[in-house]
Amino acid sequence: MAQIRLVNVCKRWGSYVGVDNFSLEIADAEFLVLLGPSGCGKTTTMRMIAGLEESTSGEIWIGDRMVNGMEPKDRDISMVFQSYGLYPNLTVYENIRFPLRVRNVPKAEHDARVMRAAEMVELGPLLDRRPAALSGGQRQRVALARAIVREPNAFLMDEPLSNLDAKLRVSTRAQIKNLHHTLKTTTIYVTHDQIEAMTLADRVVVMNKGQVQQVGTPTEIYDRPANTFVASFIGSPAMNLIPGHIAGGVFGADGMQVANLAAANGPVTLGFRAEDAQVVSDGGNIQAPVYAMELLGDATLVSVRIAGALVAVRAPKDFRIDIGAPLQISVPLSVVHLFDASTGARIAL
Ligand SMILES: Nc1ncnc2c1ncn2[C@@H]1O[C@H](COP(=O)(O)OP(=O)(O)O)[C@@H](O)[C@H]1O
Ligand SMILES: [Mg+2]
Repeated sequence: MAQIRLVNVCKRWGSYVGVDNFSLEIADAEFLVLLGPSGCGKTTTMRMIAGLEESTSGEIWIGDRMVNGMEPKDRDISMVFQSYGLYPNLTVYENIRFPLRVRNVPKAEHDARVMRAAEMVELGPLLDRRPAALSGGQRQRVALARAIVREPNAFLMDEPLSNLDAKLRVSTRAQIKNLHHTLKTTTIYVTHDQIEAMTLADRVVVMNKGQVQQVGTPTEIYDRPANTFVASFIGSPAMNLIPGHIAGGVFGADGMQVANLAAANGPVTLGFRAEDAQVVSDGGNIQAPVYAMELLGDATLVSVRIAGALVAVRAPKDFRIDIGAPLQISVPLSVVHLFDASTGARIAL
């Protein structure tokens, strides 16, 4: 087990900055998720921690050792990738055992350790098969077992569920969560999927364009996004964001008004979540014709277009309305977020 620490870590290729001044302390036994869109630097960060990519500057610590320049095999971490990376000619048993052989773990220990790792991911009956005879989900479980068998200081997982279909992704996600509860091994997990991040993480690091946008628990980043990027990346649907102006404590935009805001005059972006607002018959903050109605099963999502933004509200599951019909939405003051119009940074209310 180990604490992992990044201090001002940068990765540049020529003038292109892949990872910009990344600093973070990851606690022993923490499950940390790196979340962000494709190309934001998640894999590069992970590869620098693993030692597969050299950082341009900064320090990387695993436990009490600074590992810059240290070979990947000496860092005592296990990686799991989106592409499972199994040896096609080896059986499941041999694939799982492989890291023990490479590391000269005494043979007498192999059988018990392989069996225990295989049990944990429910591969017991498949040990004699080769990867070609396994489903995608089973292959990823072999990759997980192979990571577990080493009992490393930390797991690094890079989009391990991305190749699985939606249903299997959900069940394997739960399995990873349960494994972490059992093993309590420090884990850094990379994903572009905000739901995976929310469900798995002790803490989430939201990244964009090589820069850390926010670090926090899933609740913190959902309830108090640090900026409009985080607000628009987390949640399904994402937070509604409406450009407008504050004048005399009143937010105004074409089709929307909110009074009694303790904020300075000037342009701002107002945000609120679809589930925090209600469709009302009278006295709403928003008045606009219905743009779309989408049935989600457990709710009906109704949207309007105001001030150039698409704005959604969650209505009860049996709510029905025609496209184009007039709609009023009530947005209580307590659910409103404000962001700086130019920087996107959160404004304290
Ligand atoms: N070897 C490389 N040379 C130049 N640019 C690279 C290299 N590897 C990655 N990049 C660039 O760095 C950025 C971050 O990549 P990556 O860490 O793979 O993103 P993510 O995993 O978040 O999708 C991307 O724009 C990518 O094109
Ligand atoms: Mg990647």
